[in-house]
Amino acid sequence: TYVVTDNCIKCKYMDCVEVCPVDCFYEGENMLVIHPDECIDCGVCEPECPAEAIAPDTGSGLESWLELNAKYAESWPNIAVKREPPADAKEFDGISNKREKYFS
Ligand code: SF4
Ligand code: F3S
Repeated sequence: TYVVTDNCIKCKYMDCVEVCPVDCFYEGENMLVIHPDECIDCGVCEPECPAEAIAPDTGSGLESWLELNAKYAESWPNIAVKREPPADAKEFDGISNKREKYFS
């Protein structure tokens, strides 16, 4: 599966949802997550994210992100249509450890 990681938080560009063939993105207030049981591993979303926040879960150190994606995909609503990203998205692009600072 692919997972959404730290740099999505408060960037939430949503280009990813437009390309996913199985609509397996789920929306929280500050970020999106991928449902690991629904993702078919096609990889199409990874290069579409302007924040480079999507990665295969085989990447090192991504275990906690897989857990977070799996957990919240169960309760957050599905999102398949892109909307306007947050007005201040660019200001948060590239900030480190956004999970600790801003995840809610
Ligand atoms: Fe959707 Fe493919 Fe990305 Fe999985 S890898 S979330 S199926 S676009
Ligand atoms: Fe997040 Fe990138 Fe999608 S910032 S909402 S994973 S396009």
